[in-house]
Parts: sequence; C-alpha cells; structure tokens
Amino acid sequence: MSEKQHKAEHRNRPTGAAFMAFMREGWAPRAAGLPELSEAARYAADRRAAVSAQFPGERLVIPAGGLKIRSNDTDYVFRPHSAFAHLTGLGADREPDAVLVLEPSDSGTGHDACLYFVPLADRDSEEFFADSRSGEFWVGSRPTLQSASAELGLPTRHLSELPDALAKDVGPSGLAVRVVREADREVAQQVDEIRTQAGLTSEEQVSAAQESDQQLTRTLSTMRMVKDAWEVQQMQEAVDATATAFDAVVEQLPEAVRRGRGERWIEGVFGLHARHAGNGVGYDSICAAGDHATTLHWIRNTGEVQDGQLLLLDAGVETDALYTADVTRTVPVSGTFTAPQRRVYEAVLEAQEAGLAAVRPGNRFKDVHAAAIEVIARHLLDWGLLPEDVTLEQTLDAEEGQFHRRWMVHGTSHHLGIDVHDCAQALRADYVDAELREGMVLTVEPGLYFKADDLLVPEELRGIGVRIEDDVVVTADGARNLSAMLPRTPDEVEAWVRAGGVR
Ligand code: GLY
Ligand code: MN
Ligand code: MN
Repeated sequence: MSEKQHKAEHRNRPTGAAFMAFMREGWAPRAAGLPELSEAARYAADRRAAVSAQFPGERLVIPAGGLKIRSNDTDYVFRPHSAFAHLTGLGADREPDAVLVLEPSDSGTGHDACLYFVPLADRDSEEFFADSRSGEFWVGSRPTLQSASAELGLPTRHLSELPDALAKDVGPSGLAVRVVREADREVAQQVDEIRTQAGLTSEEQVSAAQESDQQLTRTLSTMRMVKDAWEVQQMQEAVDATATAFDAVVEQLPEAVRRGRGERWIEGVFGLHARHAGNGVGYDSICAAGDHATTLHWIRNTGEVQDGQLLLLDAGVETDALYTADVTRTVPVSGTFTAPQRRVYEAVLEAQEAGLAAVRPGNRFKDVHAAAIEVIARHLLDWGLLPEDVTLEQTLDAEEGQFHRRWMVHGTSHHLGIDVHDCAQALRADYVDAELREGMVLTVEPGLYFKADDLLVPEELRGIGVRIEDDVVVTADGARNLSAMLPRTPDEVEAWVRAGGVR
C-alpha cells in the first residue's frame, strides 16, 4: 500500500455543505464506451494460466505495490512490481495499490483472476476533488472497474473488498495463500495476520508459509526468462528507440564538450529521447567520460566530457509496457581513438564476438561469460599484466585464479526484460547453469577498466574504460542481435562520431 503522506498543517480546503454540493454539479457526462482488450492482456492471460498450473488449489496474491514518498506530500513516479506488470499487462505508472488475486476456481481446476484497485471516484464523492492521490482533480481521469475489466479481460473489484477476499477460507486445513512479499510489505503483513488468525502460528508454520511466498516470487521471476512473441517485439522496440537516442547523444557530443558539465548534458539528451519514445529510461543512465568509465555504475554523471577522452554510454529506453533495452557504446569524443584506446577497444570487441557466438540453444548461460572472459584474460596475459608466471590456464581457474577479473569484475551477461537485471530471483540452476532456450533475451557486455590510479598497468592505459553491450534474443538455431544496427567496430564507431550520429 502507498506510504502515508505527511500533509502540510497550514493547508485547508473548504468543507462547507454548500461548497460540497456546488462541486458535485454541472459536469458533462463522462464519455461512454469501454476500451478494447489490450494486446498485452491477451498474452498476460496465457502467463496467468502457466502460473495457475504450478500452484493448483492455492490463492496467489500479486500486488502492484504502492506510492513511495519523495518528500511530504510529493510521491515518486509509480512503477508497478514486475510480476504484477507481467501478469496483468499493465505498464507505465499503473496502478498504485492494485492487487491481482488468482483464486482457485470453484470447478476445482485452474484459477479465476480478479484485480482489486481504487477505481475512478464518482463526482458526488469528496475523493473526486479532494484526494490528491486518486482524485480526478489531482491525478486526472483513471480507470473505472468496468473500463479496467474491458481493457484487461479480468473481473475487477474495489480495493476495499480485498481484505475479505484474502481471508476467505484460509486455515490449517483450508486454503493455502501465497503472496509476493517484496511487492507490497503491507499486503504481505495482511496475509501474515490472516494466517495468524487462521491458527497458523507455530514457528514451523510461519517459516513454511514465508518460504512458500518466496517460492511464488521465484517462480514468477523464473517464468519471465523465455519471452513470448509480444515481449520480443517490445524488446526490439526498446532497442530501436535506444539506438535513436544514442544517435542523438553522438550528435550532441561537441555540444557536451562546449557547454561544460558534459556528462549531465549527455544524460539529459538520452533522457529526453527515452521519455519521448517510451516510458523513460529503464535504469539510471551511465554517462561516463574518461576515468569515470572505469566505475561500473557511474550514474552520478557530474563530470566533464573532453576531446581525447572516451565516453562510455550505458543506457536503455523502457517502453510504455516497461520492457527495457540495456546497451553500451564507448566512443572517442573527438572521433578518433588513440592507439591505446583502440587496442583496449579491439580486445573488448573480440571478447564480445566470442560471447555473442556462444549464445545459442543448448549452450548454457555461463558459457557466454566463459567465452568472453577467456579472450579478456588472454589479452591481459599478452600485455604482461597478470602476476608473473601465471598462465592462461591458471588465471582461468575458478577457485585459485581469476587475476584477470581485476580489470573486468562483472559478469558478461544477464537476462533482460521488464527488469534490466531480469529474472533475478531465479535459482542458479535455472539461470547461470541453465541451458539457453529460444525466446530468452540477454545482454553480452564484456569490458576492460583500467583505473587512473592502477599502478599495475602501464601509464598509457590508465583512465581507459571500455564496455560494449548488445541485447540478443536466442533463436531456434542461434541468436539475433537486437542492437546490431548500432556501430560496433572501431572504424564504424569513428565514422559515426565524425558524421555527428548519422549511421
Ligand atoms: N546497465 C547495467 C548493466 O549493464 O548491467
Ligand atoms: Mn548496461
Ligand atoms: Mn547490462
């Protein structure tokens, strides 16, 4: 549920009966007609059926989460929990405090879904003009129970009916209920209280119930790994918009240099395009010039952008349906790599090619990292950077080696989707150790990062950070690079910068 706001004491609103009556009258009728079933909703129905099959006879509670306060009575922009978005098809900022409940069907097989939320209030209510979080005067028109039902293909009920719906028939020999705890702590607490009232009070019962909640969360996270056709299309749209935003950034490089505070300028240019083409950025953009590129998640973006430096831009547009791209390009600000910059870039590119080639069904997720990191390790060995006498085999040893990781401490890949690090609750066996399957979308993003104060590398390499990141979908017999339209070889990248972002 939404955090309770701290309303300012000094404000007051008129409450006189005559004023209230005046506010209720004189409004044109609301538009008649209902929305069409959304495209996302059709796919969400299949996803709910898949969840249903895994938890027969149990009540499943998937909250969207609530509004978080930024300060006093001002909230952060709302983003629904990813499991909720996936199982309803709702995206953007919809719908604070909503809860999806999958109720075991009376027929004994499958579940009936119902969405509980706060619908648009009638104009004869105080909420209509006085509630700054749900009132039409404050946040605009919102769905009614009927319109949300038509859009999502689900029965809908007022949120006030949720407590009874959660409590019904729960007990030691009654219905089991599971909740995605992290999505909404208050709803999780409600479920805990219901369990307590139903007599599930022993330590064993409490921990078993919480473990069953975790299992639901894990299952919902894991089932997002293989994307359906609509999701793959969303990912391509996210990447296409990201590529356009990258072009705009490259076009603005001279301006970023000229204005000063250039990393901020880059962040703004990318953000402008992300907000225009989609819902916004899928994560805080990393706009890192020079040595900042050696900080993996440099999201402060407070630095200068200068000729002679590399700019590492790691950024992604998120679609209205919340699917995000995650792409990195590292470009010479001046349009020409220096010799050491090019050497590092080419090593990373070779590693990425090896990683990309390993993305195919039947290979395991971890094979992608193994392929890329071996190339990284070999270059570092050839450049004489590994400890003396350490061989390639020794550094690649998982237990005793890994010296090369000083310069690439992160993994090469992660699943990508509604979350930038998608499916993060999945078990290792289902993620890192699992085979790649058609429909999975992952990044391939090796890098090399030589910090300015790293005394173990030659001076000419210090302050150089390079990452190249593409988003790929696993196909029946290999992979398709969704971000292949963006320049990647050093010559292509130089030409792109020199042409002012024209590909
Ligand atoms: N942008 C974060 C990552 O590449 O994983
Ligand atoms: Mn990234
Ligand atoms: Mn990534």
